[in-house]
Formats: sequence, C-alpha cells, structure tokens
Amino acid sequence: MILDHTHKVKKFYERFGEDFLKLEYLPEEVLDYLKAEEEYLLSKIREGSKVVDFGCGRGRILKLLLNRAELLVGVDHSRKMLNYCEELFKKHKHVRCHLSDVRSTPLRDDIFDYTLCMYATFGSFHEPEKVLKEMIRVTKPGGKIILSVYSEDALDTVLKMYESKGIRVERIEGNVIYTKEGDVARLFSKEEIRKLLARHNLNPRVRRLCPIAYICEAEVLK
Ligand SMILES: C[S@@+](CC[C@H](N)C(=O)[O-])C[C@H]1O[C@@H](n2cnc3c(N)ncnc32)[C@H](O)[C@@H]1O
Repeated sequence: MILDHTHKVKKFYERFGEDFLKLEYLPEEVLDYLKAEEEYLLSKIREGSKVVDFGCGRGRILKLLLNRAELLVGVDHSRKMLNYCEELFKKHKHVRCHLSDVRSTPLRDDIFDYTLCMYATFGSFHEPEKVLKEMIRVTKPGGKIILSVYSEDALDTVLKMYESKGIRVERIEGNVIYTKEGDVARLFSKEEIRKLLARHNLNPRVRRLCPIAYICEAEVLK
C-alpha cells in the first residue's frame, strides 16, 4: 500500500512554504515557467470571471487576477499560507480564502468559470483523480479547468531547485521525486497527463508551456 503523503506535503508547506514559494534563488527555468504560466492565464481569463485556485499558496495567482476576476477563491490546507493570503487580501472583498484539503472542499457545485491548479501543484497530490473530480464539481458547465504540471524534462531543474532551497531528495520512484522534508513532485509526459484528464470525461488541450512544463486546458461538460 502506498501511504498517503498529503500530511507530509502539508507539513512541508507549514515549515518551508514561505521561503519555498518566494521567487528569490529559483533557477532561471522555474522563473520562466512561472512567467509563462502568468502570461497564459492573463491571455485566457475573461473580465468578470469567477475563479478558484486549488493550492493557492502565497496567493501569486490570486494577486495576478485581482483586477480581472469578479470572485477569486483560494484553497490551501496550510494554515501558514492561508494566514498570509488573508492578510494580503483583507481589503479585497471579492477574494476569499478557505483552509481545506483540495480533495474535498467546502465549495458549492457549479460556481466557477475557471478552476486552476498552477505551478505543478497537481503533481504533489496523493490522489490527483480525487482532486480532479473536485475541480470538475465546483466548475460551471462550460467552465474551464486549467492546470500546469512539470514535464518529463524537468528532473534536473527540480533537483536544482530543491538543492538551492536546501531540500534533500529522499528517493525517486519512476517519475515521482520524494523529498526528506516532505514535498513531492511528479513529472508527467504529455500523454500521461492527457490520459489522466480524459479518464474524467475531459478533452484537454495539452501544450508545452516551456521546456519544463505543460499546460492543460479543458472545458467541463456536465
Ligand atoms: C507549489 S505551491 C503552489 C502555490 C500557488 N498555486 C502558486 O502557483 O504560486 C503548492 C501549494 O499547494 C498546497 N497544497 C498541496 N497539497 C494540498 C492539498 N491536498 N490540499 C490543499 N492544499 C494543498 C500547499 O500547501 C502549497 O501552498
């Protein structure tokens, strides 16, 4: 049986999250990835949309879309991250933050025009399919799911990133990197991520965003 690593990832973000998610000391390739992701979202998300970010961290994406969306919801299971976001967005009434595991959130069905999961967060989930079901549940019919994952070519960069942050690799099993500190990073081939989404009745467009990442976009049909 593979143990649920969710609590380890949570502990990791409680302990390192603040520093880990700061953009200083990140390898150039990761900075390029995040920049490309932001440009992609700004080109896609329409004015006045309702948007939720699964695993919102320090609110990088919520900040990006602050003047674009009518409703912005961040969900994260790390109290530290949530505190940070609550403070950051306290003057913005259209931003809400929920402390919750993304496998089962307190959000109602069919609310969002866009349900996001960025910066390879999807690859750290123990039960990605459960998260995907939850993403679909909260998205409006005709709404979109957008998520980005590390590509199969990201291994060296991810290892370099961990090293630069003092995070130690425990083991690498297939395409999954487990760290001693608790974070987990899964790399996907284009076909793998496409098939995973297709199992949930999604017909995703999967594109290479940059050398180390893919971005997937799928319309939710209900
Ligand atoms: C790599 S960070 C990404 C932050 C943000 N999405 C961004 O793009 O800057 C991953 C975040 O996902 C959160 N996370 C990981 N697994 C989670 C889970 N099962 N439920 C809720 N949040 C989770 C972590 O606490 C962390 O803040």
